Amino acid sequence: MRKKTTSPSSLQERIEQVMEKPVPEHIAIIMDGNGRWANNRAMPRIAGHHEGMKVVRKITVMANRLGVKTLTLYAFSTENWKRPKSEVDFLMKLPEEFLGTYLPELATENVKVQTIGYMEQLPPHTYRAVESAKERTKENTGLILNFALNYGSRAEIIEAVKSAINEAQKGILSPEEMNEDIFSNYLMTKGLQDPDLLIRTSGEIRLSNFMLWQLAYTEFWFTDVLWPDFSEEHLIQAIEEFQNRQRRFGGV
Ligand code: FPP
Repeated sequence: MRKKTTSPSSLQERIEQVMEKPVPEHIAIIMDGNGRWANNRAMPRIAGHHEGMKVVRKITVMANRLGVKTLTLYAFSTENWKRPKSEVDFLMKLPEEFLGTYLPELATENVKVQTIGYMEQLPPHTYRAVESAKERTKENTGLILNFALNYGSRAEIIEAVKSAINEAQKGILSPEEMNEDIFSNYLMTKGLQDPDLLIRTSGEIRLSNFMLWQLAYTEFWFTDVLWPDFSEEHLIQAIEEFQNRQRRFGGV
């Protein structure tokens, strides 16, 4: 008897089946559970983050292969600064390690690196690594790998409101013409379509200040799997379930 989902050929079959239907164009992921993964193995929390970094590569490659246009990954929130300094320092080194190790491969696959978040507040070494990856891949036309780094959605919305007010005061924007499309252009996600699918790992069922405006009509998919254990099969499963949902956007 053939094994159901674990053999490479059945993964290949599932990929082909998924690609016969509309694949979510923008997937956003709250990558949660690194600490618990490490804790379960009596390892330091940072070991979980390091393992999680490898999963980022795997999932990016698979999303690109499936034809996903944008993958937004919540890598560090504005609230994450509250963690112990040693953990924050480690997390701030991960983008450099990730890009140093995997960017050549991802760039060959036409991946374009972008970010949302307060980049100027990152340590200079992190900022430089990310900005250089963005610069190096800016002409690429494949998957947009959008890292949410030092990102917080409420702060983003407040900044957007302030910019709009400022432009209204200068006469660049008339308050009457403000609408959802125009407001979206003041957000850090300007130019990106809203996520079609949100995935959160590790069993937590909350948004944690992530893309509050942009997720208004997004399909949510939660799993108990911890991020370091998240695999290509899980991504395919999320997309399969997405494809079986009916999106009505408030209609009937
Ligand atoms: C949440 O898990 C995870 C984070 C705050 C960091 C996520 C970062 C990565 C997955 C690696 C990022 C990689 C790149 C390339 C930037 P947690 O620590 O809150 O886990 P816990 O809830 O089990 O404690």
